[in-house]
Amino acid sequence: MKKVLAVLSISFIVYACGGSDNSNSTNSEATATTTETTAKSSYDPNRGEGKFSSENVVLGASVDPTMVASGEKIQSVKCNACHKLTDEKLVGPGWKGVTERRKPEWIMNFITNPDPMIDKDPQVQASLELCLVRMPNQGLNDDDARNLLEFMRKNDGVK
Ligand code: HEC
Repeated sequence: MKKVLAVLSISFIVYACGGSDNSNSTNSEATATTTETTAKSSYDPNRGEGKFSSENVVLGASVDPTMVASGEKIQSVKCNACHKLTDEKLVGPGWKGVTERRKPEWIMNFITNPDPMIDKDPQVQASLELCLVRMPNQGLNDDDARNLLEFMRKNDGVK
C-alpha cells in the first residue's frame, strides 16, 4: 500500500510539473501550427510549387521519340543511380506509374527544383520518411525536364 501511495504521489508531482510545462509548450505549438497551416494552404499539392502549370506544360496525345531519346540519356546519367524504371524503390521511388500518380506540371516543378516541395508537399514528405534521403537538385534546365517527362510517359506505356 505504501508503495502504491509513493507511486501515486510521484506521478502526481510529475503530472503537476508536466502540466504547467505543457500549457506553455502547447501554446507555442498552437502558434507554430497556425503559421504552418497558413503556409501550407497556399501550396497546391496537384501542381506543386514553381513556374510550371497546366497552361505551360502541354502534352501531345502520343510521345515525341526525339524527346524520349534525350530524356533517356539524361536519366541514365543523372537519375539512374537512385530511380529504377519499375515500381521498385532504389534510393528513391521507382518511376513506373509516376505520370499517373503526379500531374505533368507537378513533375516538372519537382524535378527542376525539389527543395521547396520536399519541405511542403505532404506526399513527398511521406516518401522522404521511407527513403531517408532528400532528392538533390540535379540542375536540370526546362528542356531537360520536359524531355525526362516525355521519357517517363513512354515508360508508363504512352505510345
Ligand atoms: C541521390 C538520389 C536521387 C537522384 C540522383 C535523383 N533522385 Fe529523384 N528522388 C529521390 C528521392 C529520395 C525521392 C523521394 C523524395 C525525397 O525523399 O526527396 C525522389 C523523388 C523523385 C520523384 C517523385 C516520385 C514519386 O513517385 O513521387 C521524381 C519524379 C524524381 N525523383 C525524379 C528524378 C529525376 C528526373 C532525377 C534525375 C534528373 C532524379 N529524380 C534523381 C532521390 C534521387
